[in-house]
Amino acid sequence: MNYDIITFGSGTRDTFLRLKEGNYRILGEGESVGGQSLCFPLGSKIFIEDLQVSTGGGATNTACTFSNQGLRVAVCTKVGDDKGGEAVIEELKKFKVDTRFIKKDKQYLTAFSAILSFGRERTILIYRGACHFLEEKDIPFNKLKTKWFYLAPLSEKSAQIFGPLVKFAVKKGIKIAVNPGNSQINLGQKILKPILGQIDILILNKKEASLLSGIEKEQEMDIIRKLKGWIKGILVITKGKEGSVVCDGKYIYKAKTPSVLPLEKTGAGDAYGSGFLSGLLEKNDIKYAIQLATANATSCIQKIGAKNGLLKKGQWGKWPKVKVEKKSLG
Ligand SMILES: Nc1ncnc2c1ncn2[C@@H]1O[C@H](COP(=O)(O)OP(=O)(O)OP(=O)(O)O)[C@@H](O)[C@H]1O
Ligand SMILES: [Mg+2]
Repeated sequence: MNYDIITFGSGTRDTFLRLKEGNYRILGEGESVGGQSLCFPLGSKIFIEDLQVSTGGGATNTACTFSNQGLRVAVCTKVGDDKGGEAVIEELKKFKVDTRFIKKDKQYLTAFSAILSFGRERTILIYRGACHFLEEKDIPFNKLKTKWFYLAPLSEKSAQIFGPLVKFAVKKGIKIAVNPGNSQINLGQKILKPILGQIDILILNKKEASLLSGIEKEQEMDIIRKLKGWIKGILVITKGKEGSVVCDGKYIYKAKTPSVLPLEKTGAGDAYGSGFLSGLLEKNDIKYAIQLATANATSCIQKIGAKNGLLKKGQWGKWPKVKVEKKSLG
């Protein structure tokens, strides 16, 4: 079987717990460690307003966008030999995503996230599970026949397979899009630079771009120039409600977001990254890719669950396509 894209990364079960206003407090930067904090009274019982269970994880979320956009896609991840793992696989099948490369592991349970959502924000508690321990031996390299790899964040121990996956792709002429997670970024510049030199599309959020480049996040142009020098292809930086900026080496493309209030933001990054690659594969046009990415992310955050709002091919949601400003990099 030849695929357009194979995705790698996490496959989890997500539980969304909607907190009721008044049942929690947000402590300001001065009162807590590491920025603002979500705070509950110690020893208390907290009733929640709403509960929803779905599946998540970057590899599975992005695969659902690719499939929705009419691409042939398979997921490569690891789940536990348990109900959670079955739920992940079942949901992917509903989206017509190929699940044959998903390994059921006997040692670890399926990863689990509890998403505490409040106001427009959320704090996520993560139980490390099978997908965080994806190793080279779990990957059926000889069966991976595809045009593209999409590497969603490879967290914890899985970050170690970043290098081998890129090396394999280069050897086979497979193109690579990467949205690295913190564990990958923390591998350090010495390990990362040769890997990033092979990348066709690098997708980062503002914080990740700052962490990777070692430049303050306000210095956007400095970050872009530095990172663009490290990769061979396109650099994409997402900036939450401020939109996104893309650089292909010659031009800078900037787009805002439609003015919407998010209902639940989980999956926004995955929806943007996979929407961007889908758009690029459809039209080979960066402006169009940004518009599709933004529309997909906008729609994603209007629903609870990382997959529930994803657009289908030909749909654009109820917002107009965003304007994309194109300027020479100079
Ligand atoms: N509050 C918001 N309002 C409108 N659009 C948003 C908002 N948050 C995110 N988006 C859309 O989603 C895209 C990706 O969001 P963001 O930069 O927060 O990614 P991320 O930090 O990687 O997200 P994730 O937590 O899912 O990994 C943005 O470029 C934007 O199009
Ligand atoms: Mg992200």
